[in-house]
Amino acid sequence: MPRTPLIAGNWKMNGLSADGAALAEAVAAGASSRAGGCEMLICPPATLLHPIAALLGEALKLGGQDCHAAASGAHTGDCSAEMLADAGCSYVIVGHSERRQHHGEDDAAVRAKAEAAHRAGLVAIVCVGETRAERDAGETLAVIARQIAGSVPPGARAADSVVAYEPVWAIGTGLTATPADAQTVHAHIRAELARSHGASVAEDMRLLYGGSMKPENAADLLAQPDIDGGLIGGASLKAPDFLAIADAAAR
Ligand code: 13P
Repeated sequence: MPRTPLIAGNWKMNGLSADGAALAEAVAAGASSRAGGCEMLICPPATLLHPIAALLGEALKLGGQDCHAAASGAHTGDCSAEMLADAGCSYVIVGHSERRQHHGEDDAAVRAKAEAAHRAGLVAIVCVGETRAERDAGETLAVIARQIAGSVPPGARAADSVVAYEPVWAIGTGLTATPADAQTVHAHIRAELARSHGASVAEDMRLLYGGSMKPENAADLLAQPDIDGGLIGGASLKAPDFLAIADAAAR
């Protein structure tokens, strides 16, 4: 099965109703005027999901940035995967390094969230990535293998799961992994998935790169054989930049 590239925008904690709607409309218009060749997704903050869902056409999908593992209950401030689905989402990001670092989420918590996503019928985008210290210590591949083993549910399939490799030191810093370094890690992720989930799941599952992806570097990263798209932060907040990255993916 050929892997359709996925270009996903993670807006993080950015966007009020007026500017969020304007950005979503611009991206939706750009997505619908393109012939396809890649799947496009935006993940706005939770407060904007409902209004933005009403603005999207067929060519642009909607995702959440996080979910709780439970379907409902006494979890003040949290949002369940079922709530995201109800708001119009078809995807959810889980285990972003900002959640792992600032909210103490470990691999078991991330896996429970991915399982919740599947329960609600959402595609889980499971994030992994090493810190600068881990990279400098030569531990990148071991860290990634441990995160894959702990965070990707055993029942994950290509249709319900995506893995995003986001080196922590490249997020929001302007630093990007070289295409060759990113490819090395992506190939490692696919090999680990083949061991844990079988060759055909690993072959079909999409692996995204994230970390200062922008129009200037997207084509070289996306040309790597095991990079099947991008999870984009800063550049997803500017419609022309985000659409330019989608164009690079669709080539
Ligand atoms: P930047 O593209 O801003 O580096 O963010 C990457 C990211 O964290 C996407 O989830």
